[in-house]
Amino acid sequence: MSGFETLAIHAGSEPDAGTGSVVVPIYQTSTYKQDGVGGLRGGYEYSRSANPTRTALETCLAALEGGTRGLAFASGLAAEDCLLHAALQPGDHVLVPSDAYGGTYRLFARVLTRWGLDAEPVPLGDLDAVRAAIRPATRMIWCETPTNPLLGIADIAALATLAHEHGALLAVDNTFASPYLQQPLALGADVVMHSTTKYLGGHSDVIGGALVVGDPVALPADGRPGDGDLTAALVFHQNAMGGVPGPFDSWLVHRGAKTLAVRMDRHCANAERVAAMLVEHPAVARVYYPGLPEHPGHETAAKQMRGFGGMVSFVLRGGEEAALQVCKRAEVFTLGESLGGVESLIEHPHRMTHASVAGSQLEVPAGLVRLSVGLESIDDLLADLGNALS
Ligand SMILES: Cc1ncc(COP(=O)(O)O)c(C=O)c1O
Repeated sequence: MSGFETLAIHAGSEPDAGTGSVVVPIYQTSTYKQDGVGGLRGGYEYSRSANPTRTALETCLAALEGGTRGLAFASGLAAEDCLLHAALQPGDHVLVPSDAYGGTYRLFARVLTRWGLDAEPVPLGDLDAVRAAIRPATRMIWCETPTNPLLGIADIAALATLAHEHGALLAVDNTFASPYLQQPLALGADVVMHSTTKYLGGHSDVIGGALVVGDPVALPADGRPGDGDLTAALVFHQNAMGGVPGPFDSWLVHRGAKTLAVRMDRHCANAERVAAMLVEHPAVARVYYPGLPEHPGHETAAKQMRGFGGMVSFVLRGGEEAALQVCKRAEVFTLGESLGGVESLIEHPHRMTHASVAGSQLEVPAGLVRLSVGLESIDDLLADLGNALS
């Protein structure tokens, strides 16, 4: 069993031993009866530590990313927080994308800086800039590709080489691509992170996060939990910090993951049509979509991604006022935050998802509109955008 679609449907989904249930049940329990003290059945003790519905999801996620261990979390940011605490120490220096998702930048700048991390925004698409920013204290390059919302592309294999030459880890936020379109571990990354709220869940009905690790990754053996092994450190911190998803949320993400491949194919096809239409539209000044040959990261994206994804951003010639009007007039594209669901969404990053980075180096253009292109009929999507832009 090795095909992506087969793994998505079967990895972690063994029919239930007792009943034959084809779908892993929602084990809505906090605790487990022990057969004598320490006599655990299947290793289950308490659902913060492990729960069979979560185990099924984690097994599936590991298989989809080509990794050895998946860990599920209550949100993407909970996954990030766990990884950064497990892999880093106060005093460590981290390079982050200069166009990272606003919430990621806020976690670094407003939360983990207080714990002693030194996070420096760098344009990750510019390898010379990355090389120049690396210091002796640099322990991690945090990569997001494509980025939210400017669809910037970074070369994962080149960043992995650079990070490893300097004794740093490469972590990749693979949320926008999903494991169907891009597999960072195979390109040399040490750990992959997801907001499973997005394409993996796929139906805008759950908040979740994930980490996946592959080959063993050594951490400094300086007494921190995990004895110098990244996977062990993550497993320890997942339980010790406790940001885990409940059984029903785990089940929803797992159900979504089973159809990821077919959904992504249609997201990509619809987004390509939308991007092509926007490029030709007189009200649009610039379109950000890695599938466009003029996108600066197009060649890298074509090399490392199976398709270019379902996210498209564009800047209006009329600036912020025009962008707000488009968001207001769209009807099939629903005005709302988040992305990656079956329904198309439209939003104004400057005032919505990326309001937290206003005034910082990561501020996004006020005339920018971001689309999460869904699975509706493409003719309806194009007509809706045409009306909203007219
Ligand atoms: C690229 C990216 N990474 C991380 C996150 C954070 O995930 P969550 O909202 O599930 O905490 C998001 C959320 O929008 C995102 O778009």
